Amino acid sequence: MYNNIVGKHAEYKKLESNILQISQEAKALKKQYDDVIDATVGMLHHEDGKVFKFHSVENMLHHLSDPELYHYAPVRGTKAFSEGVFNWVFGPHADKMREEFHYSIIPTTGGSGAISNTFYNFNDFNQKVLLPNHYWTPYENFAYEANIQLQTFLMYDELLHFNREDFKEKALELSNNQKRLCLLLNDPCNNPTGLCMTREDWDFVIEVINGIAEKDIPVILIQDIAYIDYQMKPAEQSRDNFQSYYKLNPNILTVVVFSGSKTFSLYGFRIGAQIGLSKNQEIVDHFTRVGDYSVRGRFSSVSQPAMSIIGKIFTESDLKKDFIEELKVSQSVLKNRAILFLEEAEKQNLHILPYCGGFFISMITKNKNIFRDLVNEHVFVIPMGNLIRIAISSLKMQEIPRLVSILKKHL
Ligand SMILES: Cc1ncc(COP(=O)(O)O)c(C=O)c1O
Repeated sequence: MYNNIVGKHAEYKKLESNILQISQEAKALKKQYDDVIDATVGMLHHEDGKVFKFHSVENMLHHLSDPELYHYAPVRGTKAFSEGVFNWVFGPHADKMREEFHYSIIPTTGGSGAISNTFYNFNDFNQKVLLPNHYWTPYENFAYEANIQLQTFLMYDELLHFNREDFKEKALELSNNQKRLCLLLNDPCNNPTGLCMTREDWDFVIEVINGIAEKDIPVILIQDIAYIDYQMKPAEQSRDNFQSYYKLNPNILTVVVFSGSKTFSLYGFRIGAQIGLSKNQEIVDHFTRVGDYSVRGRFSSVSQPAMSIIGKIFTESDLKKDFIEELKVSQSVLKNRAILFLEEAEKQNLHILPYCGGFFISMITKNKNIFRDLVNEHVFVIPMGNLIRIAISSLKMQEIPRLVSILKKHL
């Protein structure tokens, strides 16, 4: 009767997050039974079930001055935060990135705010963003809220490698049809699959989008790097694929999405950033102009305490050293679980998708009833189409062998 109370454009809205719902269900059952395995939560937990916090982060939080804690954060971010994020993200390649690109950094409410702002400002209404067919489902919310749609290409080829050919075909088709290409790649450590693209994959993607930009079609490349600090490869190689960027056509805008949630465990603080990069200064000026405006127009500014903490870690060398030592611990917590999971999977001949890092391992299933079958065994995972997603970030080592046996039984 009162459904005309909402604007017409909002009539379709109903938040159906199966991730949140299933997580609640798992928590409720855990209160009744000791053997419940909850592999739903995308937050890193210790073996004792407590969230992994960094003491360096927490210590600082308790010692911030009043302005560092209570004041409004500047819309553009402090220099310590913005330049620190740039240096962290690009690591050993930061100086070269500065030589090759003009850039600007817009602090946002998490990586989510960064993606949502980018979707909104760099597409016309009803246009489509191209992304692989296995993706973090909140991308749908960011898209629909921005009056745009998603269009997918196949993530894998028959060898379970990044499907270059399907990407190329869909990118050319979409850019020809709508005279714009906004491409979103969640790499490295894709959520939900754990796929990491190779340097050759990146070179290929950039060759294709350069070809599109040469036809005077606007191209926006969004790279969501939420899990960059949790790759299976050595830390010193973790930023190497950014070197493919050097070949980008000058008229392409790249937006690298940084999240403070995974790197600093500051999940609830809502801090992240859009890093806009282009060889063309005018394009970066447009990026900054619309980005600043949208921050003010959508959420005014971000969390000051989180910006202060991150800024301090990035500028005070002792703090940074302590943080990096702790990060090595959090990385090994996750790595140990991943290694055990992969070993158990091999032992039990359970086929998983190639995992190269991140909080999730996935597998393909033909069992349409898999979710309920697993719940009957007190196991909670996230079903995503023909995949199930296991959050190793919230598992305990001792749960892994039993979990793999149960998965094997029902897959
Ligand atoms: C793939 C991916 N991108 C971005 C995010 C954004 O996280 P936040 O908004 O907490 O920074 C997440 C969080 O789960 C994610 O999984």
